Amino acid sequence: MSSTLGVPQPDQASYMLRAAATDAGRAYKRRLLELLDVRAGQTVLDVGCGPGTDLAALAERVGDRGSVIGVDRDAAMLAQARARTEGLPRVELREGDAHALPVESDSVDRAKIDRVLMHVAEPADVLAELRRATRPDARIGLAEPDWDTLVVDSDDLGTSRAFTRYTTAEVVRHATIGRSLARLAERAGFRVEAVDAVTPVFLDFREADHTLGLGRNLRKAIDGGHIDQARGRDWFAGLQQTPFYASFTLVSVVCAR
Ligand SMILES: C[S@@+](CC[C@H](N)C(=O)[O-])C[C@H]1O[C@@H](n2cnc3c(N)ncnc32)[C@H](O)[C@@H]1O
Repeated sequence: MSSTLGVPQPDQASYMLRAAATDAGRAYKRRLLELLDVRAGQTVLDVGCGPGTDLAALAERVGDRGSVIGVDRDAAMLAQARARTEGLPRVELREGDAHALPVESDSVDRAKIDRVLMHVAEPADVLAELRRATRPDARIGLAEPDWDTLVVDSDDLGTSRAFTRYTTAEVVRHATIGRSLARLAERAGFRVEAVDAVTPVFLDFREADHTLGLGRNLRKAIDGGHIDQARGRDWFAGLQQTPFYASFTLVSVVCAR
């Protein structure tokens, strides 16, 4: 991945896999799975399963008698998920929208939705769908970032703040949903059992550029008149001088139906 300003958007699946493979990515995913307490024989639903990052781990937990359903609205993501779960007969992939899950009512024992609610049109409607799809004693895991917490170290603190404001206001639809997850879950009728937060830390500029979209979102912020071009370019050039630091907070909530 180039670290210059006009970088193309990296392919989404590789972004998701790389984000999940960082230490912090692995840690919150492991913790979410632990808290979900998936048991052998259960039916587990992964909403917005993307390239299938977590499907094999879920399949291992449900065993031969259980099943894992991965749902995503993006056919290209599902193709990658299919390739990643070849040879796992208990994994089924369904194309569909989180607002109208292609899943029978009261049929799922465990469900997770990880870094998806921030993108959907109506998070409350998706949570209502999760409630419909799950059985009365089900557990549900939610994980979302809160992009207001994105900090990027720079001598030019004003541009770092402007970059975070731009990300929150223009790039991500529900950018601050992480902090609201427990409240939204309670409102949807779930009982919140655990709330956790992790802070992925990026010390490598290129990794941060790739995962956080520093270059590509700065380009858009400049084009949209949100950040001055010369100042933005200086800020971006400055980030490439070591040491680099950026971080954000990701919130996980596990609740019961
Ligand atoms: C950031 S990726 C996360 C993928 C996966 N959950 C993970 O943790 O690696 C978001 C995924 O949500 C999917 N998605 C976004 N909005 C959706 C919707 N309304 N219905 C179904 N899938 C959706 C996208 O296609 C994408 O695959």
